[in-house]
Amino acid sequence: MESLLQQINDHKTAITAFTANNAEDVEQFRIKWLGTKGLVKAIMGEMRNVPNDQKKAFGQILNEFKLFAEARFEALQAQFEGANTADLGHGSQDQSLPGDPISVGSRHPLTLVRNEMVAIFKRLGFSVAEGPEIEDDWHNFGAMNLPEDHPARDMQDTFYIKKPDNGNGPTWLLRTHTSSVQARVMETQKPPIRVICPGRVYRNETISARAHCFFHQVEGLYIDENVSFADLKQTLYFFVQEMFGKDVKVRFRPSYFPFTEPSAEMDISCLICQGKGCNICKHTGWVEILGSGMVHPKVLENFGIDSNKYTGFAFGMGVERITQLKYQVNDLRLYSQNDVRFLKQFTGVV
Ligand code: DAH
Repeated sequence: MESLLQQINDHKTAITAFTANNAEDVEQFRIKWLGTKGLVKAIMGEMRNVPNDQKKAFGQILNEFKLFAEARFEALQAQFEGANTADLGHGSQDQSLPGDPISVGSRHPLTLVRNEMVAIFKRLGFSVAEGPEIEDDWHNFGAMNLPEDHPARDMQDTFYIKKPDNGNGPTWLLRTHTSSVQARVMETQKPPIRVICPGRVYRNETISARAHCFFHQVEGLYIDENVSFADLKQTLYFFVQEMFGKDVKVRFRPSYFPFTEPSAEMDISCLICQGKGCNICKHTGWVEILGSGMVHPKVLENFGIDSNKYTGFAFGMGVERITQLKYQVNDLRLYSQNDVRFLKQFTGVV
């Protein structure tokens, strides 16, 4: 039986040493070792010469050898799988490989939040109004009760485009706020008016994590008989609860805007630190999200709306700020850098 063991060992050495240059060589290997007249079958036939008491042990050795030869065959076959496809006339490409995945884009976070804001106000009966980004002085400032020498014009660093020709015609600028759309709406519509105006605005600011030279606002305007400050508060409470959930706390602070009287700013409890204090809320636990107030009678009169009969409220908020709070985005620049690693995170957010 020694010689049988020796033979198996020699076979194993030969099998290990075998190399194939092409699929044809692999086939030769199969015929030589695993075919019906192959060496594996032949050596299995030697079992009948093995004495009965050694049959069990030898059976195992032979079985192992058979598996060894089959494994080697499979490895050789794998080596030439691509080449086989070539043989099938598909060129050098493996037609069975999966294709490159097509990456699907996603909506920009600011678009998502803007759409959500619009949807919330639509549920309250507001409709959408839009206006131009290149505005004249009157719609952006004058009509909104900011005459030429008004100090509040300095609050908004304006990009001016064109001065009047020889004192004729308007000064053109990039709108600094969507309040200009209020003016456009009041010019063309009679009360009752209930609109929201989403859009891009521009200010001459140094770009940093907290400021940008363009950003987005959503403006709201509601004018009718008997519109009160209580209506303003309820509308904004509703918005905050729909946008951020029922647990968010809200507070109003008196403020000043030339186009509203009285005016108020609204804060919500900081969603990033849950009111404990962090960089975003400057350790106060509160974040300002909008300016608002009762439309100034002068603004109404600018458009021939009788301020004794009609009252209204208005508000304006930044889409970037709302998005920051909703998705914890800590750098404004991320919104306009077009880095897909950032944008991809909003895939699947409706
Ligand atoms: N226009 C203001 C700004 O850009 C925001 C604002 C405040 C709009 C009060 C309003 C309002 O309509 O009533 O900072």
